[in-house]
Amino acid sequence: MDSETFLGDVAIVTGAAGGIGAATARMLAAHGAKIVLTDIKQALGTQVAADIGEAARFVAHDVSDGCDWKTVLSVAEDSFGPVSILVNNAGIAPTPTPLFEVSEADYRRVIEINQISCFLGMKTVAPSMIGRGGGAIVNVSSVAGLKAERGAIAYVASKFAVTGMTKVAALDLAKDNIRVNSVHPGLVDTPMVRPEGGAAAFEPILQFASGLPIPRPGSPAEIANLIVFLASKSASFLTGGSYAADGGWTL
Ligand SMILES: NC(=O)c1ccc[n+]([C@@H]2O[C@H](COP(=O)([O-])OP(=O)(O)OC[C@H]3O[C@@H](n4cnc5c(N)ncnc54)[C@H](O)[C@@H]3O)[C@@H](O)[C@H]2O)c1
Repeated sequence: MDSETFLGDVAIVTGAAGGIGAATARMLAAHGAKIVLTDIKQALGTQVAADIGEAARFVAHDVSDGCDWKTVLSVAEDSFGPVSILVNNAGIAPTPTPLFEVSEADYRRVIEINQISCFLGMKTVAPSMIGRGGGAIVNVSSVAGLKAERGAIAYVASKFAVTGMTKVAALDLAKDNIRVNSVHPGLVDTPMVRPEGGAAAFEPILQFASGLPIPRPGSPAEIANLIVFLASKSASFLTGGSYAADGGWTL
């Protein structure tokens, strides 16, 4: 991969104000893509886009809102042309809570942000990809889209759904030359897993990670590497796959 790998590509990356999304946006741009970064965190998202420079735009975007998706696509097409890469990365992970204590509203919110967002994103952006002859979609699921986790009923449901939706979309869109794959991060050092309270509060998480086959949290760049590979032409024979980047957690 070099600075021209994604020359001519136009990418949308959601949840790009920090963590895995920001690392993915920076990596795609470094390899030649034009990027529309989206997030609900405007100040941080604008800063990441400014760091990237002329090749990037930031759009304030709630991924669970279908109207917002239409705006994002318009900005991408007006700024750079038809979209060839979509990374559905935005997500939330509620604090683990026993099943009978989870409220219906909280359950629905997780499904809206983690699952419905991927449906809306693929539905909105696929026609733009078809118009330019094809593209690649990467949906960011989780190890929690491959195995259960205690106290995470809504999160696990939403991420298993992303795993399944990816496979349906891969079947539906193959004839249009659009590949669709899911990525399943393990424990990754991002704001999502950094509780308030600084280093001391992070200690139990590091303790857990030390028991994994690769005994540390992953970095955002280690997940971005996989996302960017799946979005690239080097992955031209891969579609409908579920790829873990989890330090061996699911072994
Ligand atoms: N960090 C991990 O250990 C881990 C593990 C497995 C899967 N994941 C998944 O990776 C993805 C990225 O997470 P991350 O670890 O970088 O966390 P993060 O919290 O740094 O990034 C998630 C981003 O999504 C944004 N977001 C939240 N709700 C949104 C909404 N309604 N509309 C638009 N943007 C919204 C947040 O503002 C945030 O910037 C998520 O889908 C997450 O579930 C993370």
